[in-house]
Amino acid sequence: MTRLAQQHGAVNLSQGYPDFAAPAEIKAAACDAIQQDINQYAVTWGAKPLREAIAADFSRRYGVPVKESEQITVCCGSTEAMMATMMAIVDPGDEVVVFEPFYENYGPDAILSGATPRFVQLREPARPGGDWTFDHDELAAAFSNKTRAIIINTPNNPTGKVFTREELQAIARLCQHWNAIAVTDEIYEHILYDGATHVPMASLDGMADRTITINSVSKTFSVTGWRVGWAIAPPDITGAIRKVHDFLTVGAAAPLQAASAAALALPASYYRELASSYLARRNRLMGILTDAGFTCYEPRGAYYIMTDIAEFGFPDDVAFARHLVTDIGVAAVPGSSFFHNPTAGRTKLRFTFCKKDETLNAAASRLSKLQVKRPA
Ligand SMILES: Cc1ncc(COP(=O)(O)O)c(C=O)c1O
Repeated sequence: MTRLAQQHGAVNLSQGYPDFAAPAEIKAAACDAIQQDINQYAVTWGAKPLREAIAADFSRRYGVPVKESEQITVCCGSTEAMMATMMAIVDPGDEVVVFEPFYENYGPDAILSGATPRFVQLREPARPGGDWTFDHDELAAAFSNKTRAIIINTPNNPTGKVFTREELQAIARLCQHWNAIAVTDEIYEHILYDGATHVPMASLDGMADRTITINSVSKTFSVTGWRVGWAIAPPDITGAIRKVHDFLTVGAAAPLQAASAAALALPASYYRELASSYLARRNRLMGILTDAGFTCYEPRGAYYIMTDIAEFGFPDDVAFARHLVTDIGVAAVPGSSFFHNPTAGRTKLRFTFCKKDETLNAAASRLSKLQVKRPA
C-alpha cells in the first residue's frame, strides 16, 4: 500500500511509521556514536550499555528482575527478535496459538519456524466504544500437548485492544497447564488511551520463567528505520535465541544501539507527551473517519483504527482500498491481510494515525469526497 500510495500521490495512512521527526536528543546521540567511532560490530547479543538500559527500564517499570548478561538479546528490530525467538523455541510439528486479526508477521513467523499456527478469534466490539474480546473456551480448545507457544500482542495491532490483567491471567493459566511459552510483543507499551494500563505477561505470578517479551525502539521513539529491538527471555531460552540471532544477522547497528541506550534514558515526561500527542491524533482520525462514513472501532492502545466498510457497498476490502488510493488519494491496509482466511477481513480496513497534523488534515479533505453507496 505504501508503494501504491507513492505511485498515486496518496496520503499514506497504511504503514505504521511516523512521518514526524524523532526526538532531537536521540538523533544527536546517534550522530555522536558514529563520531566517537562506535562503528564496528557490537557483541552479537547486544552492546552492554543497551542491555543494561533495557534490563533497568523493564525492572523499574514492572518490578520484574532482568539480568542483562543472561536474559537479553538485542536484534534488528522486534521483527528479527520475534523470528529468532520462534526459531529458537519451536520444533517442526509444534503448534503456536495466534490471536486474529493479527500483525501480519506472526503467521509467517510460525510457518517459517516449522510450527502450525492455531488461530483464535478476537471478536469485534458488540457496541461502539466496546472492547475486542475472545472466547475463553475457544482459546482453551486451541491448546493441547502439541502447543509450544502463544503469541500475544498488547497493545494490539490492528485492533487497538489492550489485554486486561484478567485476560492475561487466563492465558497464563493455559500456558502453565500445557507447559507452553508466552511470546508477547509489547512494542506499543507506551501508547495507551482512556486510562488503559499495560500489563506485561512476564509480571504475572509464575510467568517470568515462561515468557519472552519482545520490544523495540521503533514505535516508542519514532525511529522505525533504526532496526533496534530485543527479546527478554529466561536464561535457558536466551542461549538459543542468541545463537539463532547470531546466524541470522550477527547484530543490530552498533551506533544505533548506543543511541537506543540514550533513548531509554529520556525522562518520564517524554512518555507522557508521547501518549498525549497520540491521543489527540487518535481523536482527530476517529472524527475524520466517522464523518466520512466509516464504522470505527476506537483503539485503547497502539496507533491504528480498524474500521468496517460494509456501508460503502464495495465487493471487498482490496477493491475498496484500491478505490481509496487511486480515486480518493488515501492509502489504508485491507482488513484481509490480518486474517489467515481472507474472507474474514473482507469488510475491514485499517488506518494509522502516527502522522503529522498536516497529513491527517490532507486525509480529511480527500476523504470528504468519498461516497457511501447506499442500496437503492
Ligand atoms: C505489533 C508489531 N510488532 C512488530 C512490528 C515491527 O517492529 P520493528 O520495527 O521493531 O521490527 C510492528 C510494526 O508495525 C508491529 O505493529
